[in-house]
Amino acid sequence: MNDAYARLDMTGKVITITGGASGFGAESGELLAARGASVVLADINGAGAQAVADRINATGNGHRAVALKVDVANEADCKAMVDLAVSTFGGLHGGFNNAGVDTGHFGAADQPLENWQRSFAVNVTGIMLCMKYQAQHMLKHGGGSIVNVSSTAGVAGFPEAVAYCSSKHAVVGLTRAASMDFATRGIRVNVVLPGSAETGIYFEAAKDPAMAEYMAKVHPMGRVGKPFEIAEMVAWLLSDASTFATGGLFSVDGGFGVP
Ligand SMILES: NC(=O)c1ccc[n+]([C@@H]2O[C@H](COP(=O)([O-])OP(=O)(O)OC[C@H]3O[C@@H](n4cnc5c(N)ncnc54)[C@H](O)[C@@H]3O)[C@@H](O)[C@H]2O)c1
Repeated sequence: MNDAYARLDMTGKVITITGGASGFGAESGELLAARGASVVLADINGAGAQAVADRINATGNGHRAVALKVDVANEADCKAMVDLAVSTFGGLHGGFNNAGVDTGHFGAADQPLENWQRSFAVNVTGIMLCMKYQAQHMLKHGGGSIVNVSSTAGVAGFPEAVAYCSSKHAVVGLTRAASMDFATRGIRVNVVLPGSAETGIYFEAAKDPAMAEYMAKVHPMGRVGKPFEIAEMVAWLLSDASTFATGGLFSVDGGFGVP
């Protein structure tokens, strides 16, 4: 086989995944492990992350996963996640910074400060803290690839979503700035912009039938996405198939069309 066709192979790579208990994080963990990676599944839901790790390890193909309870808003937890990757698997080659929250639907005139602050603590500060410790390791050990999660809400406005939209816009800025710091130093940093997809956050919002209908219709394909459709983009960005991509915004959104 031409070596070029093996660039998606993740054998020997170690990847941390936040939000690894559910949705995009769990799906990416299973996909990356199936392609040969060792994964650290970090989530505020430690038992959920452990269940995903158990599922991966039970495949019997030598796939390796460990789980850790992590609140990405806590700096010590983010450092512990990177330390666990290095102590368990001997290094760190990629980070999927994906944990996020939707703290409720409020307009600009009635946004509670507490919800705003939690949105930024998890969705923005959490990614910054993970990148900080991932990059500190990667700068000393041959580089790596970091993939952050934003949303179509990171490049477009939606009604009654000032905290979510603002925090997801910040992830785009954070990614662009960090990619500049590391462009010549072996670390690539990119951001994925998913449309609505069938994960925990989506199913919570879709309990309201009007919201479910809106979320399907707003995508030109007329449906929401499947977690694997986002995980495939994440896996490509974490692999050696994407070595010229950094500072990029990668939409996977059924044709929503931004940017
Ligand atoms: N599903 C969608 O429609 C959609 C669209 C665009 C962007 N996103 C983004 O995708 C990311 C992943 O969410 P998902 O859709 O897979 O939803 P999900 O609810 O299935 O998974 C989110 C995971 O993040 C974890 N988490 C929440 N707060 C945390 C914290 N402080 N520290 C560590 N883990 C924490 C949760 O426990 C959960 O396991 C989020 O950033 C979300 O904003 C989702």
